[in-house]
Amino acid sequence: MIDTLERVLISFCILMSMPGFELIGDEERKEINSIFDNKGILYRYGFDKLRGNSWKVKEFETNFSNKLSVKYSHAVTSGTAALHTALMAMGIKPGDEVITSSYTFVATAEAIIACGAKPVFTDIDFSINMDPNDIENRITKKTKIIVPVHMHGSAADMKKITEIAKKHSILVLEDSCQALGAKYRGKMLGTIADMGVFSFDYGKVLTTGEGGMVVSDKKEFADKADWFADHGHEHNTKFSRADDTRSIAGFNYRMCELQGAIGVAQLKKLDVIVNKQRENKKRLKKELDKISGIEYRKHNDTEEAGDSLIFFVKDSKIAKDVVKELLKVGIETKNLPSAFKWHFAGTWDHMLPKISEDYKNPEKLWTRSQEILNRALAIGISLNMTDEHINKISNAISTGLKE
Ligand SMILES: Cc1ncc(COP(=O)(O)O)c(C=O)c1O
Repeated sequence: MIDTLERVLISFCILMSMPGFELIGDEERKEINSIFDNKGILYRYGFDKLRGNSWKVKEFETNFSNKLSVKYSHAVTSGTAALHTALMAMGIKPGDEVITSSYTFVATAEAIIACGAKPVFTDIDFSINMDPNDIENRITKKTKIIVPVHMHGSAADMKKITEIAKKHSILVLEDSCQALGAKYRGKMLGTIADMGVFSFDYGKVLTTGEGGMVVSDKKEFADKADWFADHGHEHNTKFSRADDTRSIAGFNYRMCELQGAIGVAQLKKLDVIVNKQRENKKRLKKELDKISGIEYRKHNDTEEAGDSLIFFVKDSKIAKDVVKELLKVGIETKNLPSAFKWHFAGTWDHMLPKISEDYKNPEKLWTRSQEILNRALAIGISLNMTDEHINKISNAISTGLKE
């Protein structure tokens, strides 16, 4: 029997779907201890003589690059910081426009706004990612960057997106905050376009508590990201930190050694986590396949990270009935529909109207996205999913569909 505490924990995991969190333990503790076994230096730069050979953030970055087969990785304090850093490294300026998806976490838009640029949102398609057919409608002379967001570990249509970007000489930044470990046509998501970003917050595939990573194969962008995230410091080895060279203004998004240490341990678990999620997702799908009235999300040549199972029902009333049944057995959905207001631009009346007259009534915009999302449900996939739990989910969905 599952006790109450465990029940609460499971439904919390299902809501947040936080596999990295589920596997935090001795390995992470060992990495942290090794910092203190070495003089306890918690800063990622300097203190060369004191720290022995302990460079946890650097080690995390090197291992991350190797794991994803990408040339440069730079760790920062969050996925939001990673987005801000990457946009600045790509040369975004006040007055520029950045095209992204109307279904994303609010942070994608916040980072664009923090650069003084205007976020421009496309509708989504049944992959619940950016509809590539809606990009060219949104391109203006001011468009500098497209930010596809690989929501719930499944790819946006990168072939079409990169073709359009090339045609219009626009850069592409992949928001892969929800997609670590997923692949598109054999390549890790986040490593396909000019730059990519990841999040290691507590709800992500891997977690460092809070944290993020900026990746690129392009030295120019990687260098600028490295400098921007540390007040413009170029980390010029010919000079002391006090005398360091600089050419751009920056900010402080430095990851600390404690987070780096956790990242080193968590990264070793990536394959286990992703494989287990895929396996659990298959188990749940096998049960849901027995139920009629469900249409699955479309995938764009993706080997998914497996973080959630997304399906559409016939209309929003049925979606609500299903949610009601799931809640009765203590299961929250992941983003769709719970936390919807943090993930859909049409609900961001707290910030969008202040940016542009175009966004006076955000609820009236992106109606096609809204129609799709209103009948979409996302079930979080965790690592510990018992048969009993999977049956509970599928029974609740089945009951909801019959109401
Ligand atoms: C798509 C997307 N972008 C950006 C972020 C921001 O990441 P963080 O929470 O690490 O700032 C998130 C986090 O949920 C996200 O899902």
